[in-house]
Amino acid sequence: MMEVTFHNREPEMKEVMDILRMKPRLITFIYGPINSGKTELISHLIKELPDDYLPFYVNLRGRFITGYEDFLNVLFESDEGDVIDNVSEYATSILKDLKIVSGIPIPVNLFGQIFERKDKSKDVFRYIERFFTEISKKRVPVLIIDELQVIGDMKIDGLLIYKLFNFFVRLTKELHLAHVLVVTSDSLFIERVHSEAMLSGRCRYLLVDDFDYETTMDFLDRYNFSDAEKKVAWDRCGGKPVYLVEIVNSEDREKKVNEMFNVASGRIETELKVVNELGAEITVGDKIYDVRYESLIAILREFVERDEINMDEVDEISKRYFVKENILFVDPLYKTIKPQSRLNLLAIRDAMENV
Ligand SMILES: Nc1ncnc2c1ncn2[C@@H]1O[C@H](COP(=O)(O)OP(=O)(O)OP(=O)(O)O)[C@@H](O)[C@H]1O
Ligand SMILES: [Mg+2]
Repeated sequence: MMEVTFHNREPEMKEVMDILRMKPRLITFIYGPINSGKTELISHLIKELPDDYLPFYVNLRGRFITGYEDFLNVLFESDEGDVIDNVSEYATSILKDLKIVSGIPIPVNLFGQIFERKDKSKDVFRYIERFFTEISKKRVPVLIIDELQVIGDMKIDGLLIYKLFNFFVRLTKELHLAHVLVVTSDSLFIERVHSEAMLSGRCRYLLVDDFDYETTMDFLDRYNFSDAEKKVAWDRCGGKPVYLVEIVNSEDREKKVNEMFNVASGRIETELKVVNELGAEITVGDKIYDVRYESLIAILREFVERDEINMDEVDEISKRYFVKENILFVDPLYKTIKPQSRLNLLAIRDAMENV
């Protein structure tokens, strides 16, 4: 297998670094279609951060989170060292050899205390605030939460996510204490965030999309693609990094592209067939709605001629269905909807020829 190294994300890296150079003021939401390279960008950023920053990276993907306790276990990295009661002393003492941290370090005894409290969130936030206050005397804390939508619907005396957002607003806008980067591939979540009154004027958005044409060509050149291979790769897969990596690593590149296309179009046809024959439902809040096959088809037909459509051309139920099934990506900032990848766009067009 060829070793694929991190490829040019200069504009996005510059944008993030420009943000980090300023005083923390807003929460930064990093969003984009699935597999566009958001997490990869963050890993790269963490490696490249100058020494005067200290990143705390928490990834909720694949973590089994059913309640507050689970969430705290992911958010914190419990430190089994000495019993410590003074947060400031603790923060100062660990600063010396702290490098890249996943989770916020906390002495195990304090972690235990928080667990026993009834109103945990107050103590959690108080701890983090004190910890960051101490850290910020020497370095700039950067709190990064990947896949935050995982706890989007979790209720603990009200929605946990609102308490978190409130706390993030405090860390940024009010105290200017830490940078907060929230990463998500869930476009419904970003849509919700974007329409949230509480966050209005308190956050900014950074789109990490698939590579554009130039970047894709540069990438393929690095792995000695012929012109014909480059054309097939771009025509079919567009600039979705994960697909490009797969093609790089296959013996027969053209065959691989065709295989991926067949899988994508097969999946769309199957999903439509299931809705047509068995029906499907979508839950919004406490209500359940029927997904209408005819609406789905009408929307997909719009993509036969166009690469993207406007948000107001799609009914809410169908939109949510397509997003949940990872077929369409909604960009609430630009008010557009497009397939999650070029491969999906072509698969949709192919499927529309057969219905
Ligand atoms: N800049 C890059 N250079 C090289 N490879 C990349 C780059 N970005 C992404 N990739 C490849 O694409 C894969 C998917 O990227 P990544 O997991 O970062 O996407 P994501 O947007 O976080 O996905 P998700 O939407 O599932 O969270 C990576 O494992 C890597 O192989
Ligand atoms: Mg990711």
